[in-house]
Amino acid sequence: MKQKVAHVIDRMGEASSRAQGLREVITSCRKLNLNDQHRIYLMKDPVANNGKGSVVGFLKVGEKNLFLHDHQGQTHEIMSLCVLDFYVYDNQQRRGYGLKLFNKMLEMERVLVQHLAVDSPSDKSMRFLKKHYDL
Ligand code: ACO
Repeated sequence: MKQKVAHVIDRMGEASSRAQGLREVITSCRKLNLNDQHRIYLMKDPVANNGKGSVVGFLKVGEKNLFLHDHQGQTHEIMSLCVLDFYVYDNQQRRGYGLKLFNKMLEMERVLVQHLAVDSPSDKSMRFLKKHYDL
């Protein structure tokens, strides 16, 4: 079971990096094992694939140490929960799965969306945040 989940995470991480045009894969099982501050949420369609189920997408979050600048130009160092990677398979996008995944993460992490940081947001994720959360 553990090996299968590791395989799923590795394949999804590769697909996500490809979709974002990144040169390196940012999500893999090895990287997750190296960082116990990172958590991954997987969404599965339980009836697809003749009832065997298939993965729809994932969302990875983790705490990051950030330096924020306020309107007076003061710098504040804070620890913030950050969206690190987010991907829904190409043929499943724009069906509301990303929103379900994101809302579940907010609930589990007990965080308000306006308090989240997003690491290098893609154009699609900016549109996603604007549409669903007016951010
Ligand atoms: N083009 C433009 N906007 C899009 C697209 C697209 N192909 N796909 C999703 N969106 C935005 C739009 O606002 C869309 O609303 P619309 O269809 O009315 O225009 C909205 O997201 C749809 O919301 P959902 O269906 O809930 O989201 P979805 O299941 O498509 O997941 C996600 C959103 C994860 C951003 C997905 O599009 C994806 O995997 N994209 C490729 C990888 C990527 O860019 N990931 C984010 C990286 S940034 C980071 O991880 C920190």
